[in-house]
Amino acid sequence: MSEKPEIYSGPERVFSGVQPSGALHLGNYLGALKKFVSLQDEHDCVFCIVDLHAITVWQDPADLARQTRHIAAAYLAAGVDPKKAIIYPQSRIKAHTELAWYFNCVARMGWLNRMTQFKDKAGKNSEKMSIGLYDYPVLQAADILAFKGTHVPVGEDQKQHLELSRDIAAKFNNDFNAPGFFPLPEPLIKGPGARIMSLRDGTSKMSKSDPSDNSRINLTDDADQIAKKIRKAKTDAGVIPDNAEELAERPEVSNLVGIYAALSGQSEADVLKEYAGQGFGAFKPALADLTVAKIAPITNLMKRYISADDEIDAILARGADAAEEIATPIVSDVRDIIGFWKV
Ligand code: TYM
Repeated sequence: MSEKPEIYSGPERVFSGVQPSGALHLGNYLGALKKFVSLQDEHDCVFCIVDLHAITVWQDPADLARQTRHIAAAYLAAGVDPKKAIIYPQSRIKAHTELAWYFNCVARMGWLNRMTQFKDKAGKNSEKMSIGLYDYPVLQAADILAFKGTHVPVGEDQKQHLELSRDIAAKFNNDFNAPGFFPLPEPLIKGPGARIMSLRDGTSKMSKSDPSDNSRINLTDDADQIAKKIRKAKTDAGVIPDNAEELAERPEVSNLVGIYAALSGQSEADVLKEYAGQGFGAFKPALADLTVAKIAPITNLMKRYISADDEIDAILARGADAAEEIATPIVSDVRDIIGFWKV
């Protein structure tokens, strides 16, 4: 009997995705897009626009393709280079849904019942939610593993989903006696942008679905809107502290300092050193200037790409072909491992 390697020993690949379900915000940029750009030079990268995930809640059919192009525009404007990384829409590649079905038969109900994101989204209405929303993390595992993704840049809110992906990969390898077939994907979460909070409430995350537009900075906001939202951001009566312990106890201040650090590329400790003892009358304008300086070029480029559908469509079509070339043989191996009939 030939020896199979116990752990995955294939090539490394970065995989991540963003839903086309509304305007992107600063949290998406710092938690995901900015990391995508920093990884593409040194790694094989696949960045998906996860429209199959988006339809787990209602999406207007008249708007879905436009939203998908918007996310592609945001990837490009943030600096993702289609010559270095694959960009494509998830629904174009059948491997996702096929592998998700196989994983539905591997994952356990108990695992999904523990997913906090489903509980948060469903609230008391879980009976009325789509089965797709419940199954969302299994499809996410299929996304990553259809490419044998080894590294997954995401925000902190995706930590539990990534743990589930690892559990599914490990159980598949074990159940089918295929040790090392799937890698156990590593989340790439660390860094000051991993969990950007609402500007109105430092204890809830910045989110597309927050009813208050003042809670987030959208990548489509202009300089005046950004400055106004930061001016109105909730703070407290104190000054910027000089130590991390005090900062940790002041969630809104911690969030603003975190945003400053993530945008400037400094550590939070350096930001505290620079601003300790100063009031928000000084800090907020500095943060607004920095945010505008970093976001305005992206917003402007996004506008250019949004008005260039043909260019976006060509990039997505090329990306889909390249993605299919990677995922199809992997899912074909999965079929063989499961033991389906074939001629
Ligand atoms: P989505 O579209 O909800 O979020 C896209 C990315 O933005 C990050 N993010 C944040 N990061 C920091 N602070 C925030 N406030 C914040 N809000 C969102 C998310 O963590 C994510 O990285 N389930 C994924 C989509 C997905 C996926 C995948 C990701 C589907 N399949 C496979 C990786 C690999 C999601 O949350 O999308």
